[in-house]
Amino acid sequence: MKELRTQVAIIGAGPAGLLLGHILHEQGIDNIVLERRDRPYVEARVRAGVIEYGIAKFLEENGVGERMLRQGLKHDGVELRFDRTSYRIALTELNGGKPITVYGQQEVVKDLIALRVGYDAPLMFETEVTNLDGLTTDAPFIEADTPDGKVRITCDYIAGCDGTFGPASKAIPASLKKQFDRIYPFSWLGIIAQAAPSTEELIYCRHERGFALYSMRSPTVSRLYLGVPNDEKLEDWTDDQIWDELDVRLATEEVPHITRGPILEKGITTMRSIVIEPMRYGRLFLAGDAAHIVPPTGAKGMNLAIGDVRELSRALIAKFKKNEDALLESYSDTCLERVWRAEEFSTYMTQMLHPNPTDDFENGVQLARLRQSVKSPGATETLARNYVDLNSL
Ligand code: APR
Ligand code: PHB
Repeated sequence: MKELRTQVAIIGAGPAGLLLGHILHEQGIDNIVLERRDRPYVEARVRAGVIEYGIAKFLEENGVGERMLRQGLKHDGVELRFDRTSYRIALTELNGGKPITVYGQQEVVKDLIALRVGYDAPLMFETEVTNLDGLTTDAPFIEADTPDGKVRITCDYIAGCDGTFGPASKAIPASLKKQFDRIYPFSWLGIIAQAAPSTEELIYCRHERGFALYSMRSPTVSRLYLGVPNDEKLEDWTDDQIWDELDVRLATEEVPHITRGPILEKGITTMRSIVIEPMRYGRLFLAGDAAHIVPPTGAKGMNLAIGDVRELSRALIAKFKKNEDALLESYSDTCLERVWRAEEFSTYMTQMLHPNPTDDFENGVQLARLRQSVKSPGATETLARNYVDLNSL
């Protein structure tokens, strides 16, 4: 088996692993990023697209904002739509001038990979980590299968940025780990279409037939979602049926039809919440989806992952540069406070926007919540603040 040594071994080349690797590299801290998929797969994987204000600033400060600033769309508001009426939430106005940025997660991933390849830091694709060990010693190691055979990497710290199904969280002994779960009875059918968006701002819509979301990626590409039951099959929907259903749910008197175009991609995403506690075991630190999942309704997934990296990079830099342990010690608690706030916000958004086909009491409560969100200035402001910058609160 080939033996390697580094300061930080990072499992996973999603936004969390790549950003952590980049920040540590800039500080002269050696690290290796290992990713089980190949580069084209990771770069093409379509995910969410809303970046919080403070998270966009953090990317910019770390030299990852150049293309995002050029091509990302700055949005000053979102719409909540229910009872066939639209209500605008003035995000920027309610947040002291802070907008959100609409920029696809896979674009952030492409930007990070390009940077890393540019300065030639180790980034091993098609390399699957199969084992993590020695986590409570001062020489933890991982083992991985690479296209050239097995490798063992000994390091000072391991960052588990390997998403929901990766091995890192499983390496925390069951007796020390708690997992909190919620599975929702609906999924999102999402499309990307070559169609100019019929709206300037995102629309979160509750209709009796189900949830709908209007988002976009550029002035010519729309991103739309339909809430569907969990057992729904993608094959059962023709493109025309998807557009017809979006039209029905999103229609208002002023805009009865949305702009259609060729559908470039479609997929179904299940909705769930997971929190794993603690986010640290010995010298293993979890970040991003490896430690928590949020339903996409609050647009928090990537923002939370980057929020973790902000904490973890600071903590590792303090350790390597000043031999200070305090931030590593508090990492899990600091992150979990923010993670649970994001879970709360995502649950609130999810619950009020997905009608329940069999429970009209629940539907009454949902509508009452929505009305409060748009009519009570306090509730509107809280929603706006959580949406724009929860990870900096
Ligand atoms: N070895 C190496 N890599 C692995 C392994 C393994 N055993 N298991 C998983 N991975 C890789 C996955 O292939 C994936 O590319 O870890 C990476 C994790 O990346 P993401 O899933 O993008 O997770 P993260 O970086 O935390 O970003 C969170 O992704 O799912 C969205 O909503 C979520 O927007 C959020 C973001
Ligand atoms: C998206 O553009 O993909 C998107 C936007 C907002 C969400 C979820 C996804 O809440």
